[in-house]
Amino acid sequence: MPPVPPQNTAPDGVFIVFEGGDGVGKSTQARRLADWVRQQGREVVLTFQPGDTAIGATLRDLVLNPTWGDVSPRAEALMYAADKAQHVHEVVMPALRRGAVVISDRYVDSMLAYQGAGRVLDPDRVEQIARWATDDLLPDLTVLLDLDPDRGLATIRDKDRLEDAGADLHLRARQFFLDLAARDPEHYLVLPARTGVRKLAELVRARVAPLLSVPGGTVAP
Ligand SMILES: Nc1ncnc2c1ncn2[C@@H]1O[C@H](COP(=O)(O)OP(=O)(O)OP(=O)(O)O)[C@@H](O)[C@H]1O
Ligand SMILES: [Mg+2]
Repeated sequence: MPPVPPQNTAPDGVFIVFEGGDGVGKSTQARRLADWVRQQGREVVLTFQPGDTAIGATLRDLVLNPTWGDVSPRAEALMYAADKAQHVHEVVMPALRRGAVVISDRYVDSMLAYQGAGRVLDPDRVEQIARWATDDLLPDLTVLLDLDPDRGLATIRDKDRLEDAGADLHLRARQFFLDLAARDPEHYLVLPARTGVRKLAELVRARVAPLLSVPGGTVAP
């Protein structure tokens, strides 16, 4: 894995990302953090990848809908990259420039984990494409919710094409997420995903508080 790329930092706002496998609790924790940040008086933009722009929603359907059949891994990676490019351009950067706190449910790491390590593509080249697409914008903090893929997927009934892609893919993706976090511990918080919902939210707040320059409260043992 290459070293961490140079960071194009959030201009005035704070950029926080939740990552991890399917069904680990990303959306639950993203919502909880958004509520708390709002209570601190900051503007929050709660968003997600892929699909949180008009173009992105169309791309998401192209990538995830099983009716499209055999999607080439390169085509898939480029569609995810296009989604990210539009999302950063239309949603993330304008909000950060206004000074907002942007909380994204998935970002570049998911693409690296699933399209790079999970498939046949060279992860380093997938990373170059993803970084180019996002203009090298890295999160101030990525919260990685780590879980055995069997336990995460067990909570999802209607599996889409990727969720159905086999245990190996999800195991490799999990390890790739962990490797990305280990490469840059200053910008990652790795938490075991089946810690209680409230306790997890507390641990996340404690790490985010200094980024907002507010007191984070205590973390109960
Ligand atoms: N800390 C937790 N412990 C146990 N169950 C949890 C926890 N957090 C969330 N859940 C449950 O796990 C399921 C998935 O949660 P959630 O939708 O937040 O995950 P997700 O990572 O966003 O999933 P997806 O990848 O499908 O978007 C829900 O039923 C939720 O109630
Ligand atoms: Mg979710």
